[in-house]
Amino acid sequence: MGRNKRIGFVPTMGDLHAGHLSLIRRSKKENDSTVVSIFVNPLQFNQKKDYQSYHRDTRADLSALRKEGVDMVFLPSDQELYPDRFQTTVNVEGLTQGLCGAFRPGHFRGVATVVLKLFQIVQPARAYFGQKDYQQLKVIEKMVHDLNLPIEIVACPTVREKDGLALSSRNRRLSISEHKRASSIYATLRSVALFAQSHPASAVTSLRQLFYEGLDLSKGDRVEYFEVVHPDTLTTLKKIQTPFLLAAAVWIGKTRLIDNLLVNRNSK
Ligand code: PAF
Repeated sequence: MGRNKRIGFVPTMGDLHAGHLSLIRRSKKENDSTVVSIFVNPLQFNQKKDYQSYHRDTRADLSALRKEGVDMVFLPSDQELYPDRFQTTVNVEGLTQGLCGAFRPGHFRGVATVVLKLFQIVQPARAYFGQKDYQQLKVIEKMVHDLNLPIEIVACPTVREKDGLALSSRNRRLSISEHKRASSIYATLRSVALFAQSHPASAVTSLRQLFYEGLDLSKGDRVEYFEVVHPDTLTTLKKIQTPFLLAAAVWIGKTRLIDNLLVNRNSK
């Protein structure tokens, strides 16, 4: 790769879907070359079992990347990224306290650490992240800002199935009926957002109740959290005031799904 070429970078854990491909296509439009990494990062998993059972299909991923015309794929081994006696991690403090951070201790430390390492190796001008993992996006933006990294973080819209379900590698674990129930997450976020916009200053407790009531859940499904937060600081709001972000994590059977909806002053 030439010295002055601008590299666009899409870090992934593989199991690629149309959401990843949308990041890659954007990077290809905006940069001289595009690098994709595939690395299932052990440091960001809370449960060893979850890490071990993470779906891996490098052959299918490489074939998808070849079709997209990606310039380079980086496939590091665990040993390459975490050599023996590895002791240094990156912790973005405030932003990781709530939402997923409250339920997945150490998760964002693992994400920030691996992303910083990947940035150091790939040296991109821009890096692309999906808004579905909104808290992750904010954590990376903050890390880049706080550590003076010369990288532009590009936030890309969530890609959804026809029924509104946000694309995620975890969706493959859903049965047909679970998939249908899972699609109620985004539909309910939308109706809660519409209610909030037409009832400014409503209490978050009433929105939470609407969210719970709107979901199509079965026995064994449960809401892990539903929060209304400021989109920049991720601090929880008690009363609705634009801009705000509705964020939720819901277990559909044994699958944990997250989604969010950002409402700005001009949102329709
Ligand atoms: O979003 C992901 O797939 C991962 O968290 C990331 C950013 C590739 C870091 O392992």
